[in-house]
Amino acid sequence: MKNPFQSNKRKFYALETRIIFMEAALETYFNSPVYTDSEGIGFNGQKIRKMIFNELCEIFPFEAIIETGTYTGNTSGYMGKKTSLPLYTCESNRVLFALARNRLSDIKNIDCCVMDSRDFLSSLAKKEVSHKRVFIYLDAHCHDDLPLKQEIEIICRTWKEFVIMIDDFQVPGDAGYGYDHYVGKQTLSINNFLPVFLQNGLVPFFPAQASSEETGAKRGSVILTRKDKLAEQAGRCALLKKYQP
Ligand SMILES: C[S@@+](CC[C@H](N)C(=O)[O-])C[C@H]1O[C@@H](n2cnc3c(N)ncnc32)[C@H](O)[C@@H]1O
Repeated sequence: MKNPFQSNKRKFYALETRIIFMEAALETYFNSPVYTDSEGIGFNGQKIRKMIFNELCEIFPFEAIIETGTYTGNTSGYMGKKTSLPLYTCESNRVLFALARNRLSDIKNIDCCVMDSRDFLSSLAKKEVSHKRVFIYLDAHCHDDLPLKQEIEIICRTWKEFVIMIDDFQVPGDAGYGYDHYVGKQTLSINNFLPVFLQNGLVPFFPAQASSEETGAKRGSVILTRKDKLAEQAGRCALLKKYQP
């Protein structure tokens, strides 16, 4: 039976999230109308997360980058400028999309679109980029939607060679890393998502460094590759540790 309290709580959080997003959009519009590199910008301002991304880019010669959940475009800008690779990013909120597209318009390798992440990944599956080795940053989650499972399934059906990084994911054994919990849905944790990872033949890795060493928002993450030579390659990244149940 439907629980009206849970349902109202969910609506409240969804509304609160929209207000927070609109405030962030206005603040960014006035204070930072053009994307500019800085230590506190991109990957939640996290120094170690940026190092993980950069090391993965050295280990895997990626040919393109995909991001779901552009928000104001800070991580898109960071990854796009750092690598110069073709970067495809999607945002479902029209205001945030318009803001990010304007902020990133000088970075010609970035392609912003306004779309739901599942439709976006399905549309990329029909394009040339579906044959490329890709880094995929999954960050399109908020209170009223959790598309992670479907995103993973589309990726695994489409791409042969990829590394996925999911933001806001609980790091086992380190409570200092933040993670998302959704009312009536799920916590982004290995307990909840291991079956999805295993069903799709994915191997999870977590940040090897303690959260006390991290900077910025200290959000947790999980990094996934297929259980093949890519997992062996990811194992060479000194900043990652393979998940041991
Ligand atoms: C945490 S923010 C992304 C932050 C951004 N990646 C960064 O690092 O700066 C999540 C974004 O995902 C968007 N979003 C939520 N659900 C989505 C969906 N199903 N498809 C596309 N975007 C979505 C939200 O509007 C929000 O802007």
